[in-house]
Order: sequence, then structure tokens, then C-alpha cells
Amino acid sequence: MNRKTTGSMLLALIAMTVGTAAFGQAPFGPGSAPQAATPVNGTMTVNISDKLKISDTMFGIFFEDINYGADGGLYAELVANRDFECTPADARGWSAKKFWVVEGQGMTFDIGTDDPIHANNPHYGVLSVGEVGPRLINEGFGGFRYEKDASYDFSMFARQQGDKPASFEVGLLSDAGNVLASGTLEVNSREWEKVSLVLTAADGNSTPDACGKFYLKPLTAGAPAAVDMVSLFPQDTFKGRKNGLRKDLAQTLADLKPQFVRFPGGCVAHGNSWQDDCYYWKDSVGALEERKPIKNRWGYHQTRGLGYFEYFQFCEDIGAYALPIITVGVDCQFAGRQQAVPMDQMDRIVQDALDLVEFANGGVHTKWGALRAKMGHPDPFGLKYIGLGNEEQISQAFEERFKMVNDALVAKYPDIVVVGTVGPGASGNDFDRGWRFARQEKVPIVDEHFYMNPNWFVDSAQHRYDNYDRTGPKVYAGEYAAHAQGNPRPNTIETALDEAIFLTGVERNGDVVLMSSYAPLLGKHGNMQWTPNMIYFSNTKIDKTTTYEVQKLFGTNAGTNYLKNTLSFGNALDAYQSLRVAASAVEARNGTIILKYVNTLNRPVSITVSLENTGDDIIPETACRTVLTGPVFTGKEYTLTENEIKLGKTFTVDLPPCSMTVIRF
Ligand code: AHR
Repeated sequence: MNRKTTGSMLLALIAMTVGTAAFGQAPFGPGSAPQAATPVNGTMTVNISDKLKISDTMFGIFFEDINYGADGGLYAELVANRDFECTPADARGWSAKKFWVVEGQGMTFDIGTDDPIHANNPHYGVLSVGEVGPRLINEGFGGFRYEKDASYDFSMFARQQGDKPASFEVGLLSDAGNVLASGTLEVNSREWEKVSLVLTAADGNSTPDACGKFYLKPLTAGAPAAVDMVSLFPQDTFKGRKNGLRKDLAQTLADLKPQFVRFPGGCVAHGNSWQDDCYYWKDSVGALEERKPIKNRWGYHQTRGLGYFEYFQFCEDIGAYALPIITVGVDCQFAGRQQAVPMDQMDRIVQDALDLVEFANGGVHTKWGALRAKMGHPDPFGLKYIGLGNEEQISQAFEERFKMVNDALVAKYPDIVVVGTVGPGASGNDFDRGWRFARQEKVPIVDEHFYMNPNWFVDSAQHRYDNYDRTGPKVYAGEYAAHAQGNPRPNTIETALDEAIFLTGVERNGDVVLMSSYAPLLGKHGNMQWTPNMIYFSNTKIDKTTTYEVQKLFGTNAGTNYLKNTLSFGNALDAYQSLRVAASAVEARNGTIILKYVNTLNRPVSITVSLENTGDDIIPETACRTVLTGPVFTGKEYTLTENEIKLGKTFTVDLPPCSMTVIRF
């Protein structure tokens, strides 16, 4: 590539306001308001020829159905409790009628269990009216978002419960109660039958943020009918997939350019109990009405319409590796006393792991490969990574079961890369024992978790991996987030920049840290069990945090080689302050050189950069610069700007106070 020709460079200014907060107080360093003081001078050398390989899975995303991340979130289904399978076990006070409300007088709305569509889906609604008029309203996940002229696929399973066929009107209601679209359906079978139609909204809700409702209106008096799997999907899903993902949210994730997607958790992967809410993947594939809904470990209901097939499909759609995390038969360590699958039932757990590889990669004539093909994907998904366990207590019970699953996987599928687990913390008993065990079992990668205060990411995590053993298992920094004080814990410029400092250390140690993902990913306003999250959303909008922007800057500027570099401030900064400015240098696959800088001081920093071991002729005249900063270190408000700077063998990069800067050439 001729790096001298950069073409016409963009001079774009994008400013985003996402909130405000008070100015901090400290005179110099984190917590204080940025100052237009004299810059601190530093020097940096970048050796263009001294390269260290970085994995192609360095920056990924952690997806868990927490904070309504799946049902009511990424999964585009609009009807809540479509399967009438909500129970008090999901959440106190919930029942099979949750989210359904009768409007008007004279409707009988019962829950039936005789002869259901499938044993995994044992409940259904039974409706009858003495006179036409009342409607059964679905409240949705905080209402229904309808867009003018958008089309929606309605479907349900239904059967007549008596001698008379029944007909129904179904419709979309705006927030103001206006019918935006409606249609009628006949139910004239004594067996379950799927009926469907398309509804096109004549208008949207009255304001962009408002949400409507959905109704089902019996049109035949004295003709009881059973209904189940009552579903309404926007046709405009991500990549137009049926049973697909909410387009704007999925695109927001795709924009991060994640190199892998971890799913379905987190704690959801094993639930609180192997007998109860553990996420056995086989129950999440096949026809929707045959999947097994379960309570969500975070206190709500999982339909599992977004199941393993859909996760694999999403990974393929965005060019990311899949990283499923499956149970090894041991409960979550936060569920109380550790319970584990009895040894005489472990065959099932082992077989599930083996069959998952067959489902993802097997030929269409294998049992599970055939199911994948039947679901619409005859080609293999190319699964390469499987995580075994999620931060369980590392006990004898765990080790025995992990070994059973791991040994079977390695023996049958030696190309699958297993990711082990070392507990919930950055250190401690599980961490130490987990690492010892992983070394002993020669587990290729282990999953470290740390939710720590912001300073920890600067003082400890930044150099955490510099002296890690290069001969043992590699690292997946699988769940991390800077937790500032507050309720809810905020995402601020400070938390995001401290995470960014950590990530410069991750890139520098790209030979030992092969994967990383911030957690959790999604939080739905009004439905939060955990903060902070990377992205907040409602039914109608998406709020990207400072952390999101940092993750995007790393994801979209990932390298395949790390370039040796030094950053120095002489006597200009003391040891404490020096830790608060960090840099990394990488080379991308196409040869682009990318320099990243994080300045968490409240003063500007000016760095003289010298490029070593490169000829003048291949250095372009200008480079593209992106700066993320905000007016208040502890605030949420941020701006992103893009412009260009002059380059040479030696050039200057000015870092605003409290900022992250990316230079590309
Ligand atoms: O990210 C939220 C939770 O934190 C995950 O489910 C769990 O693995 C961790 O404790």
C-alpha cells in the first residue's frame, strides 16, 4: 500500500450529548474538570518493523439475557408472554396470563393445558365471548413500537374448542388507542393450526417515544377457541431474517465490529440450578412452539425464541466467531450451596457438548446437522470455540465434571478450542485453583472476570498481563467493567477511559490475551437488574454510553500485529500520573498503522512520535484522527470528533484532557 496517498480526508465533527454531571474537584488527575493548562510533553517511539501477532478474536461482545436483553430486547418479537408460559417461578405475582388483559365486559379468558401444541409448551389461552365486543390486549414489553407504513407478521396457533368455528380480528393499537391496522382470521380446525396475516401500520404512534398495544378480538359469540404462540414481528428485522433481531439494536452491536459473540451468558448459561433454569441448548432449537421456555435467572421469562440457531446466525451475519458458554453440570456459585449433576446423569451433559458441535458443524446427514439444515442452514456454522462453565466455584465436583466434558470434546473434536473458567474475580481461591487446574488440564484459554473500581483498571489491570506466563493457557478477559460508585452505577468518561487504558495493555499483550469482552452488553430502561451496561435502550431508542464508544474505537481499529513502542514523560509526570496516560500501536490486516492514546489527566498532553525502521516514502502526509472526550471527567456527556493531522517520520499528537485519541495512517 502506498501510504503517501491518503486521498481527500474527512473533516467531520460529530457531537453527541448523552447526559450531564457535576464537575469533579481534584486539581490534577482523575476527578477534576479538564483544564486548558500548558501541555505535558512526552515522547513516543514506534518501531514499525518490530511486530507481535495479535489474535483475530481480541475484541468481542458478551451477550446475556439480563436486563431484558433478549426477550423485549434484541429479539424482535413484540408480543410478551406469547406462549402463556409465564409462571410465578419467573417472578413473584406472574402467571400464565401475565401481560394479557381483557378489555370490555363478557369475555372468558382461561388457561388450558389439555392436549397442548407440544409438551414443552403446556399452557395456552382459551377465549370465548357471549357477545362480540371485548378484546384481549397484549401489553408487550413496555408497549409496542409501531412505525408508519411498516409491515408486521402476525401468527398464532389456534383451534376451535367446541363445535363452532371461530373468527378473530387482530389489530395494532397506537398509544392513543387508534387502530393502526387490523385483519380477520378464521379458526375452523379442531387440531392446532397456524394462522397468519400481515398488518401494515397506517400510522405510527403519536410521538416517536410512545408505544402502543396489540389486540385479539373474538368475532364469534359462543365459539370458544384456544390460542397459543401469539406472535407479532416487524418484517424489517436485522438482515430481514424471519424470527429475527431488532434491527437498530443488532446494527448497534454490528457497528462495534465484534470479532466474536459470547452467549447466552454469564450466569444464564448455567442458571441457578441444573434441574431448573440451566440453559440446555437443545431446548432452544427447532420449531418455536417446541422450544422449552424457562425462567430467566435474572427474574423474568425466557421464551428462547432467540436460541442457539439464531445466535449462530447472528454471528455469521456480522462476521464474528461464536463463543457459546455451556454448563458442565455445576450450578452458579451465587445460587447458594454448590449443587452438581449426579455422576450417573453426567452422560447427558457430555453428550450435549458433543452434539452442540454436531449441530453447528456436522453434515446434513448427522442427527443435529440435519436439524440445523431443517431450520434453514445446511452449511456448517464453523464453530471453533466453546466455553465450559461460567465462574463456578472451583471445587472437586467442578473439576471432575469439567474434565469429563473437556476430555470428551478434545477426543472427538480436537480442533475445537475450549475456554475454561477461573471464578468470578481477578484473584482469590477460585482464580488460583482454576488457573492451576487449567494448566494441569492444558485448557487452551481461560475466562477471567473483573468488575472493579475505575482506578483498578489503571493501577493494576493496565500492566496485569505484562508478566503473565507465556507458556500456559491463554487469557480471555471475558467479563470486565469499571464500576464507579452510584446507584445505578454510571458510565462516565472516567469509567470508559479507565477501561480504555486497560485495553491498551490487552493489545500490548496480544500474545497472551486472545479475547476480551465488556459485560454486560444491554440494559433496557426500566428493566435493569445490573448496572453499568454498555448500551441502554427502550422500545424506541438506543443510548450509547462512553464505554460503547471506547469499545467501538478498539473494535473498529483492531490490529493483527502489535508494534513495539515506548512512551515516556521524563520528569514531566510522576509515577502515579504516568500511569494515567497510555498508548498502543498496532498494524491492521490491510497495513494501516493505528496508534491509540488515552489521557485521563485533566491536562492536555503533547506527544512527539518518532516512527522507527520505516522509510520516509511510505509515510503519508496526513493521518485521520478521532478524539473521544467530554467536558466532565465524571460525567456522561461526550463528543466524538474526526479530523486530520500532519504526519512525518516525527510528528506531534496533541491529546486533550480526559480523552481517547486514535490516529490511523
Ligand atoms: O455480567 C453480569 C453477570 O456477572 C454475569 O451473568 C456473571 O457471569 C457475572 O457474575
